[in-house]
Amino acid sequence: MNQTTTLTILPGDGIGPEVMDAALAILDVAASKFNLKFKFQKELIGGASLDTYGEPITEPVLEKCKESKAIILGAVGGPNWDDIHQDKKPEKGLLILRQSLDLFSNLRPAIVFDSIADASSLKKDVIIGSNILVVRELTGGIYFGEPRGYNEHEGYNTLRYTKKEVERIAHVAFKLAEKRNGHVTSVDKANVLDSSQFWRKIVNDIHKQYKHLELENMYVDNAAMQIVRNPKQFDVILTQNMFGDILSDITAMITGSLGMLPSSSIGPNNALYEPVHGTAPEIAGKNQANPIAMISSVAMMLDMTMNLPHISKQINTAIETVLNEGIRTHDIKNNGSAYVSTTEMRDYIIESFKENIIYNESQNKKETVEI
Ligand code: IPM
Ligand code: MN
Repeated sequence: MNQTTTLTILPGDGIGPEVMDAALAILDVAASKFNLKFKFQKELIGGASLDTYGEPITEPVLEKCKESKAIILGAVGGPNWDDIHQDKKPEKGLLILRQSLDLFSNLRPAIVFDSIADASSLKKDVIIGSNILVVRELTGGIYFGEPRGYNEHEGYNTLRYTKKEVERIAHVAFKLAEKRNGHVTSVDKANVLDSSQFWRKIVNDIHKQYKHLELENMYVDNAAMQIVRNPKQFDVILTQNMFGDILSDITAMITGSLGMLPSSSIGPNNALYEPVHGTAPEIAGKNQANPIAMISSVAMMLDMTMNLPHISKQINTAIETVLNEGIRTHDIKNNGSAYVSTTEMRDYIIESFKENIIYNESQNKKETVEI
């Protein structure tokens, strides 16, 4: 286990660098605790790259990403770059990265931590016990379809999916459902869109190879409503790029905050891990962002790319312990109650992870356990 793992670190913009600092600190602790070796190559993406190089991502950075085992990204974008053309916007850096590395499979798990259930705007009994995995197709659909453009008179994008694109993401969703509760909800708009009718047909065909699993097809408008009405009916949600972007923000709010959701974007040779949240420009630089989504993205990386599920689990346990102790960042605090900063939350999680401290809620005490 002494091989060096090269990771490309892309902090990006806004709160990106602040939450990335927490991610790297956790990785440092994991390295010393478990005798792992990481080489971090820190690079620019998004607005940070645009300001320095005039491009939201450069060729050499793309090359480095391609050669590294995994990429960890903070967030990109912000109001400074609002008026720039689409092809130069900070977000384009991320889109180019996803497409060049063929990171087609985007997993966005939304797990409710009981202790912060009251941070959600939904009723506690509606959300407790829900556990949804959004499987979002990430390199096709309307995000990338050609032709696209705008002029004085019109603006247009193209929504197109090929058989291969739908098949491969459907396989991912079914395989993951196999390890979970065996239920896939494929979300489309097949009552209106040709591309969705096509999507539904292909998903139904692939389902024949997974007869032991349950497949439900749902229209996206209904799905948006059902997620807030009764999230517990969902296990795996399989959907196209655009619907997945929207629905994963909705599922995030079940957990209480967008600041809680990690994600992985997996391709044939590479993987990228990033929080689902954005750059939150209004709190950038204030040491107020919630680093949990970023830290659990690192946990996902340790599990999925490095095949170290026990370390990943310990990090997630540390997060849960800290939340059980009532420690909150601004986004998940109760009205009027105290909250800690980004760096304080980072340090609490690190302390718990280092010492294997578990907070035993039922006995209301802290204990150190052998893991
Ligand atoms: C996300 C973000 C991105 C997306 C942006 C930043 C390009 O909203 O990852 O959900 O739309 O995919
Ligand atoms: Mn989004």
